[in-house]
Amino acid sequence: EELMQRIARDLIDSYDEELELEIEDRNIDGLDPASRTDDKAARQAYFKELFRLQGELVKLQDWVQHSRQKVVILFEGRDAAGKGGVIKRITQRLNPRVARVAALPAPNDRERTQWYFQRYAAHLPAAGEMVLFDRSWYNRAGVERVMGFCSDDEYEEFFRTVPEFEKMLVRSGIKLIKYWFSITDDEQHMRFLGRIHDPLKQWKLSPMDLESRRRWEEYTKAKEIMLERTHIAEAPWWVVQAVDKKKARLNCISHLLGQLPYQEVPHPPVELPARERHADYLRQPV
Ligand code: ADP
Ligand code: AMP
Ligand code: MLT
Repeated sequence: EELMQRIARDLIDSYDEELELEIEDRNIDGLDPASRTDDKAARQAYFKELFRLQGELVKLQDWVQHSRQKVVILFEGRDAAGKGGVIKRITQRLNPRVARVAALPAPNDRERTQWYFQRYAAHLPAAGEMVLFDRSWYNRAGVERVMGFCSDDEYEEFFRTVPEFEKMLVRSGIKLIKYWFSITDDEQHMRFLGRIHDPLKQWKLSPMDLESRRRWEEYTKAKEIMLERTHIAEAPWWVVQAVDKKKARLNCISHLLGQLPYQEVPHPPVELPARERHADYLRQPV
């Protein structure tokens, strides 16, 4: 009975944890159209489905670890598209040694002199690992192109290299999955407003983000070219409609699960070893 209570408490803890993440993502009151229509039943359905998917992710992790898979998942999209939010929920219940996140900062002076893909290659998985790239080598086709951080030659060379690079990764046994998170102009505007007014979110708003608002059209063009020139059979792009954050998360995670032929790894039932100590002693914290 004590155990049942504890299990119930743990479940409530999980809800609270997700609630905390939700609150962290909140928009200023009334601005987020999703939060206005979000009734209690819809929230419950969301939680339920999210927890079910996170349970499946645990099975996926088990499979990755036991059959020594190598998985790479790229998350691309405009600023504030919600990449970070979905990555958090994918990794939330997983072992950080199996599922890692790579979110590289702008290249330093030394890295700028290296082969462009070199610093990304350093983060590729070994057997039994999955790496989630929060932005990736596609920076060159997006932010670097639009903000002028690379030359025209470097940009062209990028497109010559990407398909070969990705085909090599796939031939080497890596499963490569690429997501583009798509939001509208209005939605990005609203999310940026939310960040400006929320002290907990202001850190997310970089000077780069503000400039990217101004350059919406250039980003649109860059995105179209990128998706067209790097959509290959070995590693196609998947577009996630991301205006509705919750739907985007559930869709993305369930799609991801569908991309990998994971099976439940059979485990013998776990039994806690008995200890020859008096029960009262066991209850003392040590
Ligand atoms: P984020 O949106 O990931 O929080 P920013 O908006 O500051 O971060 O930058 C967006 C992306 O642009 C990041 O992936 C960053 O590495 C890249 N970036 C920023 N400055 C430069 C630069 N000078 N050269 C190349 N890439 C840059
Ligand atoms: P994204 O995939 O993030 O570029 O966002 C694509 C969404 O934004 C689609 O719904 C487009 O129709 C919409 N969109 C693209 N360009 C504009 C624009 N200039 N103004 C308003 N909406 C746009
Ligand atoms: C997102 O919401 O897409 C990520 O947090 C990236 C960003 O900060 O813009």
